[in-house]
Amino acid sequence: MSVIVQAQETLQPEIVSKKTVLSGIQSTGILHIGNYVGALSLWAANQSQYNNLFMVANLHTLTVPEALNPTELRRKSREVAALYIACGIDPGESIIFLQSDVPAHTYLAWILGCCTPVGWLERMTQYKVKAAAQETVGSGLLNYPTLQAADILIYKANYVPVGDDQNQHLEITRDIAQRFNHLFGEYFPLPETLNRRSGARIMGLDDPAQKMSKSIAAKKQGHAVALLDSPATIKKAIMGAVTDAGGEIQFATASPGVKNLLVLYEVLSGDSQSAIEAHFAGKGYGALKRELVDLVVATLQPIQDKFYKLMDDEQGLNELLSAGAAKASLIANQTVADVRQLVGV
Ligand code: TYM
Repeated sequence: MSVIVQAQETLQPEIVSKKTVLSGIQSTGILHIGNYVGALSLWAANQSQYNNLFMVANLHTLTVPEALNPTELRRKSREVAALYIACGIDPGESIIFLQSDVPAHTYLAWILGCCTPVGWLERMTQYKVKAAAQETVGSGLLNYPTLQAADILIYKANYVPVGDDQNQHLEITRDIAQRFNHLFGEYFPLPETLNRRSGARIMGLDDPAQKMSKSIAAKKQGHAVALLDSPATIKKAIMGAVTDAGGEIQFATASPGVKNLLVLYEVLSGDSQSAIEAHFAGKGYGALKRELVDLVVATLQPIQDKFYKLMDDEQGLNELLSAGAAKASLIANQTVADVRQLVGV
């Protein structure tokens, strides 16, 4: 334990007392407003309070290898990193890196996998859903949670800010940490999940019974607002969102489709629910949709401008990611050294 503190001291002596945050996004599909609301905006808002590590989970993307094109994966991974920065993650405040650039994650994942009963992995909802959609299920898909546990535990993260679809992965991470600690001695702190109170699960605009998802967004127009959509596409998606035959705007009684639009409005405007209800009283869903279009366009415009500038500077982004991986490796390699001692290899 004390060795890790030394690693942090070498890294950033002035913020050693801060708690550590880690989170990540897979470099698959199309990043959407749900990823922004549930994860990215939360990471950006709380940066100064914590030591932060934000990684692009490109090794997790390999768990469904049939869907992959290597050139596209390389490009997408860089795009996700650029979107982190464009969405407000400050590389001066937070370590940004590609998961694959810190090989210690996969080393720790092996050791944690050896401490993880197969039954725990087979019970994971995401595994069951994804495996049902595959002809051949790779063992990487089953072991997905042990790599995610390694991502988190390798930095001894205290907090993991995510949308609520990731909560089961956080529960198993704590179970794996406890099992390791039980077998080899108290070493890993148990990470806590950070979810937004409102906005932890943004639903599909076309189907409010289904979570807004990157894979559906890549196939179906009108399901999501992608972070790089044009104002015209954003307008089409939001104006076409499923609502109901009523017209009253109340958070407590809204149907799922209207509630989804209200939650988006709430998070993006920063206004309170009562102020939003007062603002839209008697105006109907058309007004809500039109104002939400303006709000989403105004939120995404500066993000898109910054994103394209970052993507234009290939060398700058490469240098930033290499520096991030070097800083992350300092911590990760120390954890692996400690774990090797603890397990006797
Ligand atoms: P991923 O790539 O599916 O999603 C990235 C983040 O976006 C959140 N999210 C949502 N939030 C609100 N509404 C939605 N509709 C919505 N859809 C997605 C997710 O909850 C997540 O926070 N397994 C992870 C990646 C990962 C990771 C990690 C996360 C790998 N290692 C370690 C945290 C810590 C995943 O597939 O997220």
